[in-house]
Amino acid sequence: MTNIEMTTAAGPVGVDPVVRLTDHRCLLVRAVIALILYFAAVAIEPARAAESAANVDAVRLTGADQDPANWMTYGRTYGEQRFSPLARITADNVKQLGLAWYADLDTDRGQEATPLVIDGVLYVSTAWSMVKAFDAKTGTLLWSYDPEVPREIGVKACCDVVNRGVAAWKGKIFVGTFDGRLVALDARNGKPVWSVMTVDPTRPYTITQAPRVIKGRVVIGNSGSEYGVRGYISAYDAETGEFAWRFYTVPGDPAQPAENPILTEAAKTWHGDWWKRGGGGTVWESLSYDPELNLIYFGVGNGLEWDQGYRSASQGDNWFLASIVAIDADTGAYAWHYQATPGEEWDFDAVQQLILADLTIDGARRQVLLQANKNGFFYVLDRKTGQLISAKNFTPVTWASGVDQKTGRPIENPGIRYDKTGKPAQLLPGALGAHSWQAMAFNPKTGLVYIPAQEIGMTYTSTKDFNPASIGWNVATATTNKTNVKGYLIAWDPVNQKEVWRANYLGPWNGGLLTTAGDLVIQGNAAGDFSAYRADTGEKLWSMFAQTPVMAAPMTYEVNGEQYIAVLVGWGGAYPLLQGRDASKSGNIRNVSRVLVLKLGAMASLPPLSPDTKLVLDPPPSTADAATVAAGEALFGRFCSVCHGEAAVGGGVTPDLRASGFLTDDGWYDILLNGALKDLGMVSFAAVLDRTKAGEIRAYVIQRSNEDKAASGKN
Ligand code: HEC
Repeated sequence: MTNIEMTTAAGPVGVDPVVRLTDHRCLLVRAVIALILYFAAVAIEPARAAESAANVDAVRLTGADQDPANWMTYGRTYGEQRFSPLARITADNVKQLGLAWYADLDTDRGQEATPLVIDGVLYVSTAWSMVKAFDAKTGTLLWSYDPEVPREIGVKACCDVVNRGVAAWKGKIFVGTFDGRLVALDARNGKPVWSVMTVDPTRPYTITQAPRVIKGRVVIGNSGSEYGVRGYISAYDAETGEFAWRFYTVPGDPAQPAENPILTEAAKTWHGDWWKRGGGGTVWESLSYDPELNLIYFGVGNGLEWDQGYRSASQGDNWFLASIVAIDADTGAYAWHYQATPGEEWDFDAVQQLILADLTIDGARRQVLLQANKNGFFYVLDRKTGQLISAKNFTPVTWASGVDQKTGRPIENPGIRYDKTGKPAQLLPGALGAHSWQAMAFNPKTGLVYIPAQEIGMTYTSTKDFNPASIGWNVATATTNKTNVKGYLIAWDPVNQKEVWRANYLGPWNGGLLTTAGDLVIQGNAAGDFSAYRADTGEKLWSMFAQTPVMAAPMTYEVNGEQYIAVLVGWGGAYPLLQGRDASKSGNIRNVSRVLVLKLGAMASLPPLSPDTKLVLDPPPSTADAATVAAGEALFGRFCSVCHGEAAVGGGVTPDLRASGFLTDDGWYDILLNGALKDLGMVSFAAVLDRTKAGEIRAYVIQRSNEDKAASGKN
């Protein structure tokens, strides 16, 4: 007679996981006990919080749909639908929603993260990759962690020093830090357990992506495709931080052996000497996982340079830029890819969220993957094979007339390849995308996908005689944004590829989405309104003023039988940095960074908003000659506009230079050439500027300030 030892898949749950049976016979008994243990584990859930924090494992994550009280991974489930089965808050009672608690954050840069809630604790990352844990019911701060990212690294941020979320696994919380580390924290106290550097810190890599834990490994990509890096995604053992696998999205130096067999194929789609500057193709947002197919899906970013002439001798599809890629979850080996924009040169990242769903299409049940791509097309793919099922534009698109069903390739309109024509190309959408990282959501009950969509056109011009610089963007493309911008929420039927309803906003760059079984769609917008709509009809049911724009997606959870909705509020990201001139289209560009948590019947209120400090333009007279101003304009466009806004108009995140006191102060040179403000994220540009050039930029800003002052005086 032997003892049978049996371990529950659920792992340690506060009961002894090892069961000893003195009887060897009965498989059935084993199965029954396994079941009992599983349900016991589920039943004792709330008690678990006190004993062991963030106790998430494979059983809980793959079964997340049966555990709606918790939100244990970035998109709630591995399929990243951002649909919650919670239905205590409904279309009928949502009007009673009120503020339960809020917490002010100690950063004033962009807030893009979706919080996690596990067994009564809310974990959230904020700008500069800081992490905080709150009691999800009361808002009491339990701990906070600051990875102390050197602020100079802010200069490597294409799109603000944001972070989109954390991951959880067996007592640990994981964050990718802006300077490229992956850090595991003890979920009980926020103390680091291990930390690995996931990038070559001498290259301009950064991390803004939320990690996900798949099969006990933390999977993480990176950013930097505007600067000069080679994209990849890697996996590390969640317990130890030990490296497990890496998938490169761009082939390396052809003289070296390929890291992965598929890269030999990929290299045939590249030309010139792209590998010297990396080629781009970073994996900085979407990541989903199908446990049954054992496939990990991710989207790949834009190429470097943007201009394909510089990047790849104006030839080739350039795998895997702007593609959706599927890899084996155990080994990271290639399974399939679908390239949405072959040979892209308009910053058409394909990193937008990848939703896994099962849909009935032409009478057959299909396992699909859904994406509302930056390029304006909504893609439905077979997620087993990568085969295109359908594609349709969800906003106006001027660069392609459609997607060829047979080849899966876009049907490009003439004149869009500015590297080939040598002329400016005007496109809708532009680099900010018809849809960017702001999460969409799929509601299986309505069958609709809710998309934070926008129209921001852009003109692209090839840079003549481009030379990469050691600081700043290296895209070899000059861009200007179109001013006729729009933003709206659309409900999209993915089976019939058509819009079902829409809510219009004042401007673009609105928040991510949540949908629930309470027939709700919830979204904040750039004007600072946080609203609930009926998921089936789009009827607006409820709204509150969040005092600040909302970009991040809300999430929902339950504690002690009460449903809560949480959202991170605050302005930032790419749009206000790049396109200051239009960023105020929605009226409110103040960043008041906070966590807001709501529930039915709650009565808390936000503190009064301090009066807005009005921007006063009081520049010295513009005395520089036209040539100096023009030289300054070119330098500003090359090195400054990505953070201080096109045409030197600030978008509310970094100082508006038109109103800077340094326009008449030699501190200007100290800031630009000696890095006087480097500890605040404004580094020295001495590598690319001397005193004359810095003076030219100042002359340009003075000129712009005078122009805008005169214009505002007229009306
Ligand atoms: C990567 C983003 C980034 C880039 C690129 C950048 N800056 Fe800044 N800059 C900042 C930030 C952040 C601050 C605010 C620092 C603080 O908190 O005071 C700032 C502040 C400044 C200030 C001080 C303004 C004031 O009134 O307080 C000046 C002047 C300035 N920048 C000029 C420039 C110029 C000129 C360029 C181009 C050569 C440039 N910056 C490029 C991020 C950037």
